[in-house]
Amino acid sequence: MKGRQIRKGVYWVGAVDWDRRLFDALIPLPDGTSYNAYLVQGSQKVALIDTVDPTMIHVLLAFLEHVPVVDYVIANHAEQDHSGSIPQVLARYPNAKVVTTPRGKDLLMALLLIPEDRFITVNDGKTISLGDKTLEFIYAPWVHWPETMLTYLREDRILFPCDLFGSHLATSDLYVSDEGQVYEAAKRYFAEIMMPFRTSIEKHLERLGNYEIDVIAPSHGPLYDKPQFIIEAYRDWVSGPPRNVVVLPYISMHGSTWKMVEYLVGALVDRGVAVKQFNLAVTDIGKLAMALVDAATMVIGTPTVLAGPHPAVSYAASLANALRPKLQFISIIGSYGWGGKAIEQLVQMIPNLKAEILEPVLSKGLPTEEDFRALDKLAATVAEKHRERGFT
Ligand code: FEO
Repeated sequence: MKGRQIRKGVYWVGAVDWDRRLFDALIPLPDGTSYNAYLVQGSQKVALIDTVDPTMIHVLLAFLEHVPVVDYVIANHAEQDHSGSIPQVLARYPNAKVVTTPRGKDLLMALLLIPEDRFITVNDGKTISLGDKTLEFIYAPWVHWPETMLTYLREDRILFPCDLFGSHLATSDLYVSDEGQVYEAAKRYFAEIMMPFRTSIEKHLERLGNYEIDVIAPSHGPLYDKPQFIIEAYRDWVSGPPRNVVVLPYISMHGSTWKMVEYLVGALVDRGVAVKQFNLAVTDIGKLAMALVDAATMVIGTPTVLAGPHPAVSYAASLANALRPKLQFISIIGSYGWGGKAIEQLVQMIPNLKAEILEPVLSKGLPTEEDFRALDKLAATVAEKHRERGFT
């Protein structure tokens, strides 16, 4: 099986996983994904950049069947969806060396039991010559683990950034053909995987401004032959101002919290604030993560269960806390029967969110007129805060 040519001597040799629906036993993959590996054949040496998830090793080995020598296996990232097939590749090429960062070596030895003598470690800015092609390694921690690096093929001006700029999208297109579809998939991917590392990514984007890049070849999803498309999207997601949007994840057991949610949504819309509402009993958690990329405010809706928030709400709050979105304001609405500490417990679950807490609204049983007036006040406060900060 032949790889798909990107430039002379540069081939995509990855695997498209059309059927995968869950990643890390956590992240929904509604559109599947791909594990992109790349073969770079120089005049003197041959490098394989990343491998594939071990469940699809047969696809990579079929590509490599007619490749007699691989000198270097470049491991940009130690997570197993890219590194998991390295042991089989090393078995096929007994003289090949794994090229990675010092932290990458440490992780790969632990995760895959690769012997120490199979490694060459590289620091930031180091290069390896393949003859007429040169690979430059750019240390880029936290995209998505602390050991990660990007590989830049100088002569062909191709950036291989592994997870960075990726999308979980199974497609037979080598390059992006539908920007709308890829924007959606890449934003979901950013939300679920990259958002917690916004500060690091901002620095990496600045640094990449010094490189001439004709093609971005990530390790998930299609390649970008118009790199500005995804670079601009990342700039917006990483450091653009939040939007005039409220994200409203909620659960309702007997309808009281739902009545409050319905009322608050109307009150916000009346005041010119957009709302993204997610019933956590049925929602795709990836959609909620995507909405958190841009939103200025999150209002959590919960009934009180066994004196605390509903477990599904606790899960969503923990997820938001881990993803560290740009939220500026947070509030909580909901209901209780005989009492409890739902608000206090929820606030304790989101210490990473450096947002101002707006006055919560809690009703005893079904919301009364007094509760609706409190929701009006909350909506007015949100609208005013967004206006003051210039969120549009
Ligand atoms: Fe696609 Fe962090 O692995």
